[in-house]
Amino acid sequence: MITSESKEAALLTLLKSARGGFVSGSVIGDELSISRAAVWKRIGALKEQGYRIRAERSRGYSLLNEDGPAAPFNEIEIGAGLDTDIIGRKIHFYNKLNSTNITARKLAADGAPEGTVVVADSQDIGKGRLGREWHSPPGKNLYLSMILRPRTGPADAPVLTLILGVAVAEAVEEFTGLRPTLKWPNDLLIKGRKVAGILTEMSADMESIEHIVCGIGVNLNMKIADTPEELRSISTSLAEASGETVERAAFTRTLLKSLDSRYSSFMSEGPEPSLADWRRYFAAEGKEVTIKTLSGTISGLCVGVDAKGALLVRDLSGRVNTVSSGDMVLSEPGYRGDEYRGNR
Ligand code: BTN
Repeated sequence: MITSESKEAALLTLLKSARGGFVSGSVIGDELSISRAAVWKRIGALKEQGYRIRAERSRGYSLLNEDGPAAPFNEIEIGAGLDTDIIGRKIHFYNKLNSTNITARKLAADGAPEGTVVVADSQDIGKGRLGREWHSPPGKNLYLSMILRPRTGPADAPVLTLILGVAVAEAVEEFTGLRPTLKWPNDLLIKGRKVAGILTEMSADMESIEHIVCGIGVNLNMKIADTPEELRSISTSLAEASGETVERAAFTRTLLKSLDSRYSSFMSEGPEPSLADWRRYFAAEGKEVTIKTLSGTISGLCVGVDAKGALLVRDLSGRVNTVSSGDMVLSEPGYRGDEYRGNR
């Protein structure tokens, strides 16, 4: 069955295949098995999603948008050619939301299937970890949340979050060629500046996870001038770091594929294969760190992460502390971990 949504996607594919040329209303009607009036309606729906389409009575319809960074950002573009097994099977796109995590949690509570993804062009109250704000202006970045329903217990949530961080790092590396580092638990840095963060929220009982909402913010095309003053020296964007404007839908597809493959590996093989890759992106092993936790501050030598995703810190007495949540600061010059606030 071709749904109305996929009819718009099919119409777009048809218009794109004409490469700026015209496609007649009758060809479109035949290909999509819809009436001329319905063609007109679908053209209107595409225009509402940001496509510029010229209509001429005798020639039909021609798409004026070009592919590339200026292409519209919406669920059709994100879904085009996306062949993931789980993540992104259903994509909800909004121009503006309070927070994609809030919307995804509502959808999850209403029974939305695993792999459902929520993307917004902008957020009014983008949420960061530890009650911070995530600066979320329109037209620039990626704000995405996905619903997961892993058949596992709540104790596995921290390591799963770490593994999703590997997926973000891989997508960034594949897309830009730049090698990011991961700051425990889940900040993605390029040259010591924060470019992406993950906020995981869970609904669970003692034994099983009802759902996890994993929210990911990636600074894609944000410029220094778009960044709040206090974040300017500590955050960056892929465009700033690579010198190239990022096509948001193309990056989102790369990210969804990477998340899909890491999540599938976690479910079938467990965390270890991905944890080994996480360690390769991790910059702080063998370095002096300080972690601020709810119960106090721990300082010492970072000796890695354990199989559950907790940070291992050897203190001056030689005792290895297992830290499962907190804010990590690397006490080395040149590393800006201690300054992070917001998209940081
Ligand atoms: C952090 O503090 O590093 C986590 C930031 C997570 C931000 C993302 S943007 C998409 C999703 N929706 C939110 O409100 N927050 C997350």
